Amino acid sequence: MKILQFLPNTLRERRLSTLVQPHTLVGRERIRNLYRLARQIEVERIPGDVVECGVYHGGSAAVLGHFATNSQMNRTLWLFDSFQGMPATTEADDNAVDGVRADTYVRDLVGDIERVRAVLSSVGTNMARVRIVPGWFQDTFPTLPAFRIAVLNIDADWYESVKLCLETFFDRVEPGGFVSIDDYGHWPGCKKAVEEFFERRGFHPELQHTDYSARWFQKPQAAPLRGGS
Ligand SMILES: C[S@@+](CC[C@H](N)C(=O)[O-])C[C@H]1O[C@@H](n2cnc3c(N)ncnc32)[C@H](O)[C@@H]1O
Repeated sequence: MKILQFLPNTLRERRLSTLVQPHTLVGRERIRNLYRLARQIEVERIPGDVVECGVYHGGSAAVLGHFATNSQMNRTLWLFDSFQGMPATTEADDNAVDGVRADTYVRDLVGDIERVRAVLSSVGTNMARVRIVPGWFQDTFPTLPAFRIAVLNIDADWYESVKLCLETFFDRVEPGGFVSIDDYGHWPGCKKAVEEFFERRGFHPELQHTDYSARWFQKPQAAPLRGGS
């Protein structure tokens, strides 16, 4: 599907979005925004890899992979997921949203690695530049080599998962790089994890709305480092 790369931008976005839609839980607006961020790091030449935490069947990852793995900037696409479904919730996740309790999803949403590979390939991803890391974040994150990040997409729903993603990866995001958080306006545990993290930093990024739930921001030059100022 190399031909996608030669389409004018609007057509390319539409075509890519249609190709990934059967393989994602993420709605059209959020896919469009990930497309925009993945493209923007090429336009602005922001160095670094692209990371997705929460992959499921790979639809949103494919949008990121389409750009990142064909970049002149030698990017790797890192994909993290248990591929065993959602972990247990904790107290911070316990509220029901629209009458649906978070814990009804525990061990649900079991992603399929072969399907991830297939959808990535279908949009022209260079698979040699993809690292799929299966396992619970708490087990896999401590094993990682050092790398910098240009786009960090967090789509992991629960308080503990989102907290760990931010604690592990936020400091690796390059100034000018982008952070997107899928569940901020939907799951209260996600919002709490984000707010607490930035409260601790004394840093309050201006969160941009993608839709009712997803938020994103561009990391400024002078975001406070771990441990305050
Ligand atoms: C909403 S789904 C991701 C949706 C995906 N981005 C898409 O395009 O459809 C959330 C994923 O996060 C993963 N996840 C959440 N917390 C995790 C953790 N602590 N360790 C590993 N995977 C986790 C689940 O396995 C699940 O596949």
